[in-house]
Amino acid sequence: MQESKLPRHVGLIMDGNGRWAAKRGLPRSFGHNAGMKRMIKLAGHAQNLGIRYLTVYTLSTENLTRPKEELDGLYTLFRKYFAKNVKTLYKKNAAVKVIGSLDELPQDVARLLRDGEKNSPEGAAFTLIFAINYGSRAEILRAVNLAVERGEKLGAEEFARLLYTNGVSDPDLIIRTGGEIRLSNFLTYQAAYSELYFTDVLFPDFTDAKFDRAVSEYGKRDRRFGNI
Ligand code: IPE
Ligand code: IPE
Ligand code: MG
Repeated sequence: MQESKLPRHVGLIMDGNGRWAAKRGLPRSFGHNAGMKRMIKLAGHAQNLGIRYLTVYTLSTENLTRPKEELDGLYTLFRKYFAKNVKTLYKKNAAVKVIGSLDELPQDVARLLRDGEKNSPEGAAFTLIFAINYGSRAEILRAVNLAVERGEKLGAEEFARLLYTNGVSDPDLIIRTGGEIRLSNFLTYQAAYSELYFTDVLFPDFTDAKFDRAVSEYGKRDRRFGNI
């Protein structure tokens, strides 16, 4: 694919894990486990394609209202998979970044994530960005409050530096699996000119080939950014 037709930053709303499990008569946690494994493979695939940033919506601020046992299951998955897979990423010169507020997460999980970010290689070719306890409204409010503390009016570039996504280009393409046609508080400020792609496929079934289809559809879009 021509480089200009390849999205530099892809946002991925990984929805449908619970329904994937329910369809098989399994508890929701099985869907999250399958989704986590799929995400890890997909990240490697995205890097191989030459994508620069992949942001995976892992937990929204609103998801923290889910039953404790489901959240505990999700945290356990992080404990199980994160450290090991981060090492594999580093070996491929890939970095990890976290967007969202870690303060509300179990301390050990928060530490895993912070260390994953901190120990990332400099000048990485690819960055896997975990949106965890992330919500656009909270992100924007936080930035506004930081700006107020400074007591100066900010331009667009300075404002963008106060967002969690500081230093990351806006998403070119946002993919949502699982059939819902909404953003659910994901990168709404940064998505002003993103191309959107929705599929009914439940996330654990979202294969590399299906990801390629989304990327190829993106390549056919005419991005005008308000121009003619
Ligand atoms: C997305 O899958 C993963 C998280 C929100 C953690 P869901 O858990 O929302 O799955 P469905 O939408 O209920 O099928
Ligand atoms: C969005 O999925 C959040 C993540 C995928 C992490 P949800 O399942 O929480 O979204 P809604 O509630 O259907 O909007
Ligand atoms: Mg859902």
